[in-house]
Amino acid sequence: MTTLRSAPGGSRHPGHDGTQGSTPPVLEIDAVTKTYPSQPPVQALRGVSFAVNQGDLAAIVGPSGSGKTTLLHIMGTLDLPSTGTVRLTGLDVAALADRDLAALRATQIGFVFQQFFLAEHQTVLDNVADGLLYTGVRQAQRREQAHEALHLVGLADRPAARPTQLSGGQRQRVAIARALVGQPAIVLADEPTGNLDSTTGQSILALLHELHERGVTIIIITHDQHIAGRMPRQIEMLDGHIVADTTRDRPPGDPVLIPGARP
Ligand SMILES: Nc1ncnc2c1ncn2[C@@H]1O[C@H](COP(=O)(O)OP(=O)(O)O)[C@@H](O)[C@H]1O
Ligand SMILES: [Mg+2]
Repeated sequence: MTTLRSAPGGSRHPGHDGTQGSTPPVLEIDAVTKTYPSQPPVQALRGVSFAVNQGDLAAIVGPSGSGKTTLLHIMGTLDLPSTGTVRLTGLDVAALADRDLAALRATQIGFVFQQFFLAEHQTVLDNVADGLLYTGVRQAQRREQAHEALHLVGLADRPAARPTQLSGGQRQRVAIARALVGQPAIVLADEPTGNLDSTTGQSILALLHELHERGVTIIIITHDQHIAGRMPRQIEMLDGHIVADTTRDRPPGDPVLIPGARP
């Protein structure tokens, strides 16, 4: 996987031609239900099916309570469905031992959260290098890859900074670098602009588009129809169901898509 190291303008969408053929989808969700055993039980997902292909940039969008966070946890293998199947890089996650599942998660999924979840006492570089902690990569190599990931998110000049010295947008860039550093099969971002002002949020969305252009597979969870509307694919949820799954060939002209736009 050289996706993240390819220079801008280099080979784009690696593996793109293969996604219809021999390469399995990065993630397959098949007839997934989730019932929380509360009193009364809550059926949060009621039969959800879709596949994420390599290179997708998709929004999962829906109002509060529609099941987005539940679905994110199941996609991220942080929780198992009540019924149905989840396949990550072709592997049925329910068939894996805990250890193997943890290893698969650590190497194949990058998480980005609304609250960033950075270690405040650590440098930016070490926060990013920590994205490789459970992958068996040695420290010197972890730091080298962390430098590369920081470069990708536009923070190559701040490796020694502490998160407390950074703006919200810069913190989210660090979190995105941490998610990317292990070159995962998929990045799952839960309301990544939810804690940012709209201008900063725009620059984070521009960065996600830029990463998509480099071939990174990204799912963004959002309650915001406006954000979802800018993504090439939109999966709409309501009451535990997918009510629409729409893909368009070309995004409409929008300032967020101007290369290098970074207010
Ligand atoms: N741990 C839980 N126990 C019981 N009900 C839950 C739990 N987590 C979520 N729910 C319920 O499941 C439904 C879907 O919630 P959630 O997945 O958080 O939706 P969203 O992220 O779209 O707001 C809601 O009705 C919510 O109250
Ligand atoms: Mg939620």
